[in-house]
Amino acid sequence: MVGWGPTHLPLLTCALFLLLWRSDGLVGRGRHWGPKEDQTHTIGKGMQLGHDETMKRHLGTMHALSRQYWQYLACGLWQASCEGEEDEQADMDQEGWSLPLEMLSSWYCSFSKCCETGDCRVTNNITGLESDLNRRLHGQHLARKVILRAVRGLLQRPQPEKALALSFHGWSGTGKNFVARMIADHLYRDGLKSECVKVFISLFHFPHPGYLDSYKVQLKKQISETVKLCEQALFIFDEAEKLHTDLLDTIKPYVDHYDSIGQVDCGRSIFLFLSNSGGNTINEVALDFWRAGRAREEITMDYLEQPLRMELKESPGTAFAHSHLLEENLIDFFVPFLPLEFHHVKLCARDAFVAQGLPYTETALDEVARMMVFVPKDKRLFSAQGCKSVSQRINYILP
Ligand SMILES: *[C@@H]1O[C@H](CO)[C@@H](O)[C@H](O)[C@H]1NC(C)=O
Repeated sequence: MVGWGPTHLPLLTCALFLLLWRSDGLVGRGRHWGPKEDQTHTIGKGMQLGHDETMKRHLGTMHALSRQYWQYLACGLWQASCEGEEDEQADMDQEGWSLPLEMLSSWYCSFSKCCETGDCRVTNNITGLESDLNRRLHGQHLARKVILRAVRGLLQRPQPEKALALSFHGWSGTGKNFVARMIADHLYRDGLKSECVKVFISLFHFPHPGYLDSYKVQLKKQISETVKLCEQALFIFDEAEKLHTDLLDTIKPYVDHYDSIGQVDCGRSIFLFLSNSGGNTINEVALDFWRAGRAREEITMDYLEQPLRMELKESPGTAFAHSHLLEENLIDFFVPFLPLEFHHVKLCARDAFVAQGLPYTETALDEVARMMVFVPKDKRLFSAQGCKSVSQRINYILP
């Protein structure tokens, strides 16, 4: 092992690749030279194997070994579904295949950027989330605080007994989807594209009530498969107020306390339910504070949680109201998104200019904000669409 450093590994890999390619045309195209297949090659009957056969056998063994080693490595790094691989590990030890693990893992990590969390796909950058919430989420002091506390709490608990379920409420454009994306971006290396993150949009994924039974099966399958793949999964349900009661009931056991009846453990997972319902209650409270001449930052959860629960329970026609999620207190935190005022919209416009690398003036920001409709009619206080499509709107006022 003298002079044998991680820098040699790419070379070795290249050589292996070339050899495999030379002898089979294409690496891994349906061909699998495992040790089991080798046994069918009745050698030892005095038959002379041709050069190609010898090469294949030799490479086959190497290939099988490296595959085993890869699994061993992946298993050690991800600590995911390692069952049934103990035998292979034992085999490897017997064969004296004891290349230093650190060496291979440092090579492995050099291109997958791992992995303080032990899972390269999960980054759990809570400081990143905090600074992003402070910088880019405008006018939502409650949402910011509640979300940070909830997510931080989940990550700090060594053995969460239940998945974290957050219910986002507020008018459209107030930042619900924006924050959900932020959470995905800071908790997962690949953000919303991560295999650990699943987004369901009610009317898009489950449009026809007639197919409810099939949706239920699919949803169940998706959730349990994702949780098997990723211990810490993130599920985002957009338009949750339009989610059918039966589908919410399908989700319920996964959000609930872990019970062992063939249920996968979702204790580290996060469920986000985004809905416009409750928006009116939130806006009423915000308006009351404004009328009383109080700062909106004085609004606390105490003023909101009860009215919010009431509105959700009572509002007719929303599936959410009837759901077990509410009745059985499976939602850990209600997250209210307050209606946005003129100066918040200006901040969104400023962010949009900066994001597009464009210069801006105070006048330009005013102009963008004035394109929005503000309610109630007499006071023109809250933007009816929040900051929705502000980034598209800045194009209208560009010279
Ligand atoms: C966390 O996020 C912040 C801001 O996005 C970034 O500067 C920092 O490097 C990240 N930290 C890690 C460990 O990825």
